Amino acid sequence: MAAGRPGRALTMDGSWDAGAARIGPVAQPAPDTKVRGLVRRFGPTAVLDGLDIDIPAGRFVALLGRSGSGKTTLLRTLAGLDTAEQGEVILPPKRAVVFQEPRLMPWKRVWENVALGLPDHDARDRAELALREVELAHRMDAWPLTLSGGEAQRAGLARALVRDPDLLLLDEPFAALDALTRLRMQALVTALWKRHGMAALLVTHDVDEALLLADHAVVLQRGQIGLQLPIDLPRPRRHGTPAFAVLRGELLGSLGLSAEEAA
Ligand SMILES: Nc1ncnc2c1ncn2[C@@H]1O[C@H](COP(=O)(O)OP(=O)(O)OP(=O)(O)O)[C@@H](O)[C@H]1O
Ligand SMILES: [Mg+2]
Repeated sequence: MAAGRPGRALTMDGSWDAGAARIGPVAQPAPDTKVRGLVRRFGPTAVLDGLDIDIPAGRFVALLGRSGSGKTTLLRTLAGLDTAEQGEVILPPKRAVVFQEPRLMPWKRVWENVALGLPDHDARDRAELALREVELAHRMDAWPLTLSGGEAQRAGLARALVRDPDLLLLDEPFAALDALTRLRMQALVTALWKRHGMAALLVTHDVDEALLLADHAVVLQRGQIGLQLPIDLPRPRRHGTPAFAVLRGELLGSLGLSAEEAA
């Protein structure tokens, strides 16, 4: 990959800065995420085939697409977990990922999972703060296997938050949860996003979830972004309004489904 410079940021004058976008007391705005011409092949198949995407600082983008269309591959590239062969990727320095499964280490307590990789001296305090934000501080000394699915996913969210990311990457984080827990998690992620002001990229199969949470929905098709849909609905959002239904129809259409099939 020509660029892909994880941990490096484009400074405001357009030059590269090796990840030190926040030195000094004055907080610099996090740079936007920009991807240009990204190519990732597995064997002869180009899963990402010249893909362009922008995630402006502070914006919430939902990424949809059929199974196997390359959503996780793109997210892994943005997280620095996968390297593409071609393309330009400009990233904010601090990124964190929440996966579909919480991926907690069973032999470490909840707070130790959250604090993984933090400097020792204040790790527990920082983990506790993050766990408090996801309403899980009371389970900080628990073992991961004793958590419910929703609690484990909240611990995964705390592990991402503790890194104070400029870009939060979420790969179907609510897919395995029951409907009620899922609604609570959606509300929690919306509240955290508003409070922290980071950019977010949420991979989801759920059109309604995209419309409830995101500023923009994009659909991955044949290795590129096929549809970019601004979601200009006022927040908090509600299902069932005429404007919601129009956007829903448009998104479903680009996924090859009708509203009746999705009902
Ligand atoms: N390490 C790998 N080796 C070979 N093929 C891979 C690898 N990772 C992904 N693929 C293939 O790349 C394609 C895109 O995979 P990816 O996981 O990005 O899809 P996805 O859009 O996230 O799908 P889903 O919605 O089912 O999670 C799939 O065909 C997958 O089999
Ligand atoms: Mg996936």
